[in-house]
Amino acid sequence: MKIAEILDGKKIAADIRAELAAEVARMKQRGITPGLGVVLVGDDPASHSYVTAKEQACREIGMYSDDNRLPASASQQEVLALVERLNNDPCVHGILVQLPLPRHLNESEVLLAVRPEKDVDGFHPVNVGRMVIGEPAYWPCTPHGVLQILARSGVKTDGAHVVVVGRSNIVGKPLANLLLQKNALGNATVTVCHTGTRDLGSFTRQADILIVAAGRPRMITADMVREGAVVIDVGVNRMSDASRKSGFRLVGDVDFDTVRLKASKITPVPGGVGPMTITMLLYNTVEAARRLAGAKDERPNAPASKPAEAEKTNT
Ligand code: GUN
Repeated sequence: MKIAEILDGKKIAADIRAELAAEVARMKQRGITPGLGVVLVGDDPASHSYVTAKEQACREIGMYSDDNRLPASASQQEVLALVERLNNDPCVHGILVQLPLPRHLNESEVLLAVRPEKDVDGFHPVNVGRMVIGEPAYWPCTPHGVLQILARSGVKTDGAHVVVVGRSNIVGKPLANLLLQKNALGNATVTVCHTGTRDLGSFTRQADILIVAAGRPRMITADMVREGAVVIDVGVNRMSDASRKSGFRLVGDVDFDTVRLKASKITPVPGGVGPMTITMLLYNTVEAARRLAGAKDERPNAPASKPAEAEKTNT
C-alpha cells in the first residue's frame, strides 16, 4: 500500500522566512526596516499565543514589531485610536488586528479603519475587492500559504479540479477566489462546499486537490477522498488529551491516519498549513514596506501584480 508524501509546511515556511530575512537585510542597508503593528484586545489564550508567535517571528527575520495589548474592557474608541496611531506611524508598514475581537466591539468598523496600504491581513474590503478582480492586493495569509505549499511542492493547480470545503471570509472564500485567478498559482476549476452542501462526499471525491477549512475535527474520512488526490488540511482543532501537559492536542479537519493511505500528498496537523500563515504575514509586511517605499515587487512567487496582457479579460 502506498502512503502519501507529507507536505512539510514547517520546512517550506522556514525556506520562505530565510528568503525574507535576506530581503529584510537588503532593505535595512537602504534605511528601511519593515515594521508590523500588532493589536491584541483581551485575554483569549489562543490569540495570545498566535500573537506572541507573530511578534517573535518578526524579530527573528530582523523586522520591527510594535506590540500593543489592550484589556478586554477596551472601548471601540480606544481600539480605533490605536489603529489610527499605527496608520500614521511611518515605522509601521503593516497592521494586524488579531481576531476575534471581544463581542462588545464592532469588528468590521475596526477592520475598515486600517489603511488598505497597511492591511497585511488582507481583510479590508478594498483588498478583498482588488484580490477578486485580480489587481495587486495583499492576499490573506492562510490562503496564500496554501498556494505556496502547493507551488513549492510541485502540485499544479492549472486545470486541476480543486474542491474547497469551507466558506469563511478568512480562508474558504478568498482561497476559492485566488484559485480561480488566471495566473501561475491559480487557473483551477473550483468547487466550494459548506455546511449546506448535500452529499459532501460526492463532491470531495471529484477533487484532484481537496482543501479543507471547515473547523470540524476529522470530518474528512478516507471514503470521501479520491485515490491519489492531494489533500490540504487547514483545520486546527483542540482536542482534550489528558496525556499531554497542556491538556489538549491539535487535530485537523482530515482523518489523517486513514486519508494518508489514499492520498498522494497530504499536509499534517500540526506542521502543515499552520506555520505558513505567520510566514505569509511577514511576506505581506515586507511587501508593504517595499510598496510604501515605492519599490516594485520582483521576488519569485510574488503575488501576481498586473495580469499579463493576454490575461486581462479573465476569461
Ligand atoms: N484570527 C485567526 N486567524 C487570523 C488571521 O489570519 N489574522 C488575524 N488578524 N486574526 C486571526
